[in-house]
Amino acid sequence: MMDIIFYNASQIVTVASGGARLKRGAEMRDIGLIEDGAVAIKNGRIEYVGPSDGIDISKAERSINAFGKTILPGFVDSHTHLVFAGAREEEFARRIAGATYAEIAAAGGGINTTVKATRAASKIELTEYALHRLDSCLGFGSTTVEIKSGYGLDFENEIKMLEVINELRDLHVIEIVPTFLGAHTIPFDYKDRREEYLQLIMERMLPEVARRRLAQYCDVFVEKGAFTLEEARGIFMRARELGMKARVHADQITPGGGAELAGDVFAASADHLDHISDDGIARMRDSGTIATLLPGVSLFLGEEYPDARRLIEAGLAVAIATDANPGSCTSENIQLMMSLAATQMRMTMEEIITAVTLNAAAALDRSDALGSIEEGKQADLLMFDTPNYQRIIYHFGVNHLNTVVKAGRVVMEKSYASA
Ligand code: NIG
Ligand code: FE
Repeated sequence: MMDIIFYNASQIVTVASGGARLKRGAEMRDIGLIEDGAVAIKNGRIEYVGPSDGIDISKAERSINAFGKTILPGFVDSHTHLVFAGAREEEFARRIAGATYAEIAAAGGGINTTVKATRAASKIELTEYALHRLDSCLGFGSTTVEIKSGYGLDFENEIKMLEVINELRDLHVIEIVPTFLGAHTIPFDYKDRREEYLQLIMERMLPEVARRRLAQYCDVFVEKGAFTLEEARGIFMRARELGMKARVHADQITPGGGAELAGDVFAASADHLDHISDDGIARMRDSGTIATLLPGVSLFLGEEYPDARRLIEAGLAVAIATDANPGSCTSENIQLMMSLAATQMRMTMEEIITAVTLNAAAALDRSDALGSIEEGKQADLLMFDTPNYQRIIYHFGVNHLNTVVKAGRVVMEKSYASA
């Protein structure tokens, strides 16, 4: 007996990889399409995916007619900063009037504005805000979400943020992957004590995070005004000794060798990459590092989009994420990022689907269990009110999601307004 069977689906996009960890370059266009398909779920896992006439729907506790609808793997949002307090409308107004993100940060605003608000907030408050944002993520189809610390930026508050991120795992159905981002920027109160802040990261924060297993990854914002390449290398070495893998904010505002470093330290992912060099591309290809693009940042900051075609044509595995945060992209809407990837970065619709499923799962080292609809994998599925997958990307700015299944359980179903 199956727990749930979806049948008669107009399309099932499996993104099947046959056990491969990721899809790179042209492989990203291979999305494993099944027409008139069915998926059967038992004990949280996929038991069957294939044609509808290959399975008996009477042998299920619940059968769901997916006629006219499209089924995809649950989306993985592999880069967010969802735990924070406060908002930055005032700085937004200054940006609209012409100030740049970097100027606002240099004048003491930006990340530091959110650090002040986050330090002042209690764990309960931070949890409450984050739960609302996670609901928003789920409502657009993200069933796994990475969350970074990075708005505490002192010992007590970085630990507080990571405790909140870890506790959210028991409070929300979304699967959460925690990342330590103590090296987000130099906090205002360490402005003239840079070395001391670096020491704090290396000698106190990282060992505590590791000892309590509060984060799976260590991230560093490598950028002018944030951390240098050599500082980042030191932090990643220390993190590795302590059993934490690297991920990098690299080459966002200026070219800075962040992608090369990501390759050197075998980072799971290098993110942003607006100004990546050819050498950076080659090093990331060698190390199997995922290239995570964040088109919502380009939209929100009114800047150029990263050159996705160049990365894909060079054979990298590209993922797309929201970067949801209060400064450079306020949206949790992964479907919007998919449309931006098509219209602004000229990724094909097939590449985009792979980028928010299998490759994003690989960016979190979870593509063994997540990111595709294949027998044996965890049953994280989305059913959309569209007859094909293209419609989700083409008809942009609205939410097409109908039903969400997380680990074999229906956790969201759309209800329709009635008279
Ligand atoms: O990923 N790049 C660094 N950090 C964030 C922005 C955080 C903020 O402005 O609050 C980002 O874009
Ligand atoms: Fe970020």
